Amino acid sequence: MSKNIDWSNLGFGYIETDKRFVSNYKDGAWDEGALIDDPMVTMSECACVLQYAQTCFEGLKAYTTEDGRIVCFRPDLNAQRMADTCKRLEMPVFPEDRFVQAVVDTVKANADYVPPFGSGATLYIRPYMFGSNAVIGVKPADEYQFRVFTTPVGPYFKGGAKPIVIRVSDFDRAAPHGTGHIKAGLNYAMSLHAIVDAHDKGYAENMYLDAATRTKVEETGGANFIFITKDGKLVTPKSDSILPSITRRSLMVVAEKYLGMTVEHREVYFDEVKDFAECGLCGTAAVISPVGRIDDHGKEICFPSGMDDMGPVTKKLYDTLTGIQMGKIEAPEGWIKEIK
Ligand code: PLP
Ligand code: COI
Repeated sequence: MSKNIDWSNLGFGYIETDKRFVSNYKDGAWDEGALIDDPMVTMSECACVLQYAQTCFEGLKAYTTEDGRIVCFRPDLNAQRMADTCKRLEMPVFPEDRFVQAVVDTVKANADYVPPFGSGATLYIRPYMFGSNAVIGVKPADEYQFRVFTTPVGPYFKGGAKPIVIRVSDFDRAAPHGTGHIKAGLNYAMSLHAIVDAHDKGYAENMYLDAATRTKVEETGGANFIFITKDGKLVTPKSDSILPSITRRSLMVVAEKYLGMTVEHREVYFDEVKDFAECGLCGTAAVISPVGRIDDHGKEICFPSGMDDMGPVTKKLYDTLTGIQMGKIEAPEGWIKEIK
């Protein structure tokens, strides 16, 4: 039985659900793991995650399809990305097939919290891992916990599909040769001041430029950029210091194979941005959130798509991607994982 939740008015917040998956790593091996009821985590006051932020996470969603199935979108790519992240953070990899199984099992165990088709909400899935034993010298932990919880969510930005206003940030997100390309908790900790400051000044997000030259577009705190040129091409920034968004990689395929668009994945100079017709933020949480205006220290870039609606090409991309995710449009082989 679906829970009694006002699905259509959900924001992007945490709602505790019934079950979560937990597996512990000790003496060089992961245990078999289990679904448990207790949402609380207990660990040493000196745990590596608490002292040195040795933690990483992933994010994906489960959807109810029109014909009532529960599915999720490309969980194998989240498993792969978490493996890459763990290697960079000197954490043990949770085997990729077990990651996908843990996602499936956790969603199944919380099936009553998967929002109905057409409600505008989805079940957000948060796999994560942290170093749990006491570490006081700077070194990796020996013991870890891998967990997966779920929470029903609505749109990441208030107003849903309404265009947002963002600003060019004076803070950097990621250094060259740093950790911008992995999903480490530390990338988000250091973005908190920038996001609070942006919100205080009325902006929904920060546009980060490359730290070395401050001339190239990187990404926002939680999403990659897509731009549409005046002649209808999809342009999306390429950089070693941004997160390889699964949504963005999927949109590149959707644009080319479903919509017949030309796709350019390349360095994007900030100077070019004023010439684009449409701009959007893409990610699991953001889906595609249209950007209407970018403020650059008092100079405004207003996209021709305006502040009322998503631009027409962004809308086509949005409809096709979400159509695939919710089972209305046939997906490329291997993109949809059936859960129930
Ligand atoms: N960039 C950052 C910094 C993110 O946190 C996210 C969210 O996961 C993304 C991009 C979008 O990635 P994905 O499409 O895989 O969710
Ligand atoms: C996601 O889109 O899954 C993320 O992790 C982004 C985060 C800012 C919520």
